[in-house]
Amino acid sequence: MNKTRTLTYVWPKSIRLFHWINVITISLLIVIGLIIFNGKTLGVTVDAKIMLKTIHVTIGYIFAINLIIRLVMGFIGSSNDMWSQTLPFMKGYKKELTKFRRSPKQVYKGHNPIGKLMVLALLIAMTIQMATGLILAGTDIYYPPLGQHFAKSIALDETQLDVIEPYSKVNVDDERYKQLKEFRSPIITAHVYAFYALVILIPLHILGVIVAERREKSGLVSAMINGYKFLPEKSNNHKT
Ligand code: HEM
Repeated sequence: MNKTRTLTYVWPKSIRLFHWINVITISLLIVIGLIIFNGKTLGVTVDAKIMLKTIHVTIGYIFAINLIIRLVMGFIGSSNDMWSQTLPFMKGYKKELTKFRRSPKQVYKGHNPIGKLMVLALLIAMTIQMATGLILAGTDIYYPPLGQHFAKSIALDETQLDVIEPYSKVNVDDERYKQLKEFRSPIITAHVYAFYALVILIPLHILGVIVAERREKSGLVSAMINGYKFLPEKSNNHKT
């Protein structure tokens, strides 16, 4: 079966860089997020909580910039990283899925049809995390992009915004602070639910890679490091 396999360049450097920055930032965000989430049980003090949120948000910015670049690249990048090739919306996807179900041992240059569904699910969960996280960065520690706006919305004196600090009531209108907390409550819920989704999706993604690699034997994991897959002369998605 492996008779006529050749090393084929599949993943450009930009995709590989995105992937590993994503892995590192999400892992750190999950660990720090879990500590914030269990703050009361772990006896985390207010100062430590502010510090953890500041670190979480700082890593969150790297995660967000990386994700935004990837989202844009999907429209303007090279063929294999385009959304038209990576997501399950392209023409002929249903046919591809039926073909895959019939003979799952086929080799794919890009993602197989189930892999495309997984990429979509991961992207949705990550985008929700990014959007909700960026809002919470503003409501919780008054960090950009919306921190100034939220600080202004609760300030007693708008000329003294720099004295407004996380968990402090200095220059804060109680009633409007209560409203801010009500506004942020469903956003935290969405942030936590998208976190649960990721915690389920990530192991499934890893399992999918293991199963696909055992079937295809094309070097899926090393392809995400050096860009090359070990492909037969004619493999699926070869036109990409
Ligand atoms: C995959 C990415 C992310 C994961 C897995 C994640 C996970 C979590 C978790 C589990 C919590 C604890 C929730 C709670 O205690 O209620 C949390 C809180 C928080 N996250 Fe994220 N997060 C991510 C991305 C981001 C981003 C991009 C930002 C902003 C730049 C951000 C900002 C925040 C803030 C401000 C909180 C504190 C909310 C609170 O008061 O509890 N997060 N995150």
